[in-house]
Amino acid sequence: MRVSALLGSALTAIGLVTAAATAQAAPITIKFSHVVAETTPKGVAALEFKRCAEAALPGKVVVEVYPNSQLFNDDNVLEAMLLGDVHMAAPSLSKFEDYTKAFQVFDLPFLFKDLAEVDKFQQSPKGQELLQSMADKGLLGLGYWHNGMKQMSANKPLRVPEDANGLKFRIQQSDVLEAQFEQLGAVPIKKPFSEVFTLLQTNAIDGAENPWSNIYSQKFHEVQDYITETNHGVLDYLLVTSAEFWNGLPDDVRPQLDDCVAQATKAGNDKALDIAMADRDKIKAAGTSEILQLTDEELAKWQEAMKPVWEKFEGDIGKDVIEAAAAIN
Ligand code: SIN
Repeated sequence: MRVSALLGSALTAIGLVTAAATAQAAPITIKFSHVVAETTPKGVAALEFKRCAEAALPGKVVVEVYPNSQLFNDDNVLEAMLLGDVHMAAPSLSKFEDYTKAFQVFDLPFLFKDLAEVDKFQQSPKGQELLQSMADKGLLGLGYWHNGMKQMSANKPLRVPEDANGLKFRIQQSDVLEAQFEQLGAVPIKKPFSEVFTLLQTNAIDGAENPWSNIYSQKFHEVQDYITETNHGVLDYLLVTSAEFWNGLPDDVRPQLDDCVAQATKAGNDKALDIAMADRDKIKAAGTSEILQLTDEELAKWQEAMKPVWEKFEGDIGKDVIEAAAAIN
């Protein structure tokens, strides 16, 4: 072989090695889509995941966080995840009904008194078991993220269940929440989160149910005259990814990302209650919406009116799951 041919082969080989090294060095991009503001517990946790992942795996992983429904809304994000168009999301636990009925337990009215009880159930063996309930659909639950307890709002004071009669309430994509409002003689309307402000502002709907941080960050208190402190249900999240994506991550990447999931979960969950209370105070200070507190008798009426929902969904959710959750309190 002539010297020039040898040199040519050597250069080609070097080129191939360099190209392979460059290809290996390309970072893994993780797209994280959510629908709320960055100041909410979920927004804080998502940014903490990004910070942690990029610090632990410099040059190997880039996390792109898309808040405020910029990339997907919750009605299409899971489909997009299974197609590989987005890699992580944390939809409300109310939004998984097309994939599993297991999380319906979190929508049962008055099942949990406060976030501490919700947390206790989530960390219990039954709560942890639910994380795997969509394995057959290709979705992996990585953990529970808190937001907070929901409050009812409307343009008229809601003191007893009869006050909600005939009013249109926006709800998430949940048959349990639909049944809950039907129990009150109200009209539940399933709509994406990104549309709620306009629906309220234009009086296309009369009311809604939201945790404090969502009310404040979306300015719902500016378009609702009254917020009743019902704490009738929880709005929490499932941090979810595609099993194919997560399990396909390289062995020198996945363990660090698992650690970052744990770190971000703790960061958001530790702050959730403080954020909720601070946002409640800000809403009160804004003075655009009156915050109503229920007497024990009034609260008991709401509990009684909504209780039949439990039995209605017992078959789908499983008696064992409901009992395990109820046993927490
Ligand atoms: C969210 O907090 O992610 C939105 C929940 C909703 O749709 O009400």
